[in-house]
Amino acid sequence: MSWDGSERIATARLGADGPEVGVQGLGCMGMSFAYGPTDAGEARAALERALELGVTLYDTADMYGFGENERFIAPFVRAHRDEVVVATKFGIVMDPADPAKRDIRNDAAYIRQCAEGSLKRLGVDVIDLYYMHRRDTRVPIEETVGAMAELVAEGKVRRLGLSEVTGGELRAAHAVHPIAAIQSEWSVFSRDVERTAVPAAKELGVAFVPYSPLGRGFLAGAFTNAAKELSDDDFRRTMPRFTGENAAANAVLREPLHAIARTRGITPGQVALAWVQQRAAVHGLPVVPIPGTRRRARVEENTAATRVELTADELAALEPIAGRVAGGRYADPGFTSAGRE
Ligand SMILES: NC(=O)c1ccc[n+]([C@@H]2O[C@H](COP(=O)([O-])OP(=O)(O)OC[C@H]3O[C@@H](n4cnc5c(N)ncnc54)[C@H](OP(=O)(O)O)[C@@H]3O)[C@@H](O)[C@H]2O)c1
Repeated sequence: MSWDGSERIATARLGADGPEVGVQGLGCMGMSFAYGPTDAGEARAALERALELGVTLYDTADMYGFGENERFIAPFVRAHRDEVVVATKFGIVMDPADPAKRDIRNDAAYIRQCAEGSLKRLGVDVIDLYYMHRRDTRVPIEETVGAMAELVAEGKVRRLGLSEVTGGELRAAHAVHPIAAIQSEWSVFSRDVERTAVPAAKELGVAFVPYSPLGRGFLAGAFTNAAKELSDDDFRRTMPRFTGENAAANAVLREPLHAIARTRGITPGQVALAWVQQRAAVHGLPVVPIPGTRRRARVEENTAATRVELTADELAALEPIAGRVAGGRYADPGFTSAGRE
């Protein structure tokens, strides 16, 4: 299969009455945060190339590089303001003195302060999609969504989203104000969302935005052992599934992706991306995965995956993988919604 990138991708609706966006978005986090050094010129070119190919949903968060990622994509967003849907997030509090330290806050005063900061850094009048990044269980979700809804009423935010929530939390939030999209990790390697979040999203007409659909690059072969191959400050070195014996055991699990890729003349990353689209279709749910890349050629490769149709046999070969993955998604299991189901 060739992916010269001459074809624009299809579109999908982001939530019941949401905007039409390209059926694949672009995760911008790695351009400024967590994944080692970035070539800024190439990353800017990747943003532009994605738009040419029909990618319109661009994902960032206030905590990606202490606001640096919002500042990095701001000129691009402003240059194409009417064509792009910019999504950002609040809720994870970083400590500049200790970047490894994380807290979570969802209270109304904090949300307002974060929204003002994101608007300023992005240089826009309105945030198209504003997510709660993580759930602070000390604050009732109704209160959090109430505060987010005030931002909508004031015209500072167009639509609301939630990241890493359970199906029950999504239902409670949606009863306060319509939720356009839920964003959580969903890939061949990480399928816990299929237990409660995915069925609730389908029932409520909420779009799903799978993050890390390439397993943070592991499924695409970007690395195998984080501790040995990635830079000292790369966040993936902290993730249990990418280090030590787990990394070696999990590398073997990638073999069916490689076998399918070889037979089809595509890449393992494309197999992983096609799997997310097709798995969501099985659930009857619209999805807009946001693979992250800082490189034009990978934007072309990833968007071309939207045209890959896996066969029933290929899907069956990929089915058992997630159940066999060794090691959790985060070093701190509290950072996922799974424990609250
Ligand atoms: N809500 C949340 O809590 C949360 C958590 C994590 C991420 N996110 C969002 O989701 C986005 C995507 O997730 P992610 O970046 O963690 O993981 P991902 O999309 O699964 O993988 C990204 C990694 O794969 C590499 N890559 C991308 N395309 C590739 C290809 N075709 N071949 C080989 N390697 C490839 C990238 O490297 P290069 O950049 O060097 O190409 C990067 O290291 C993020 O950018 C962020 O916006 C949200």
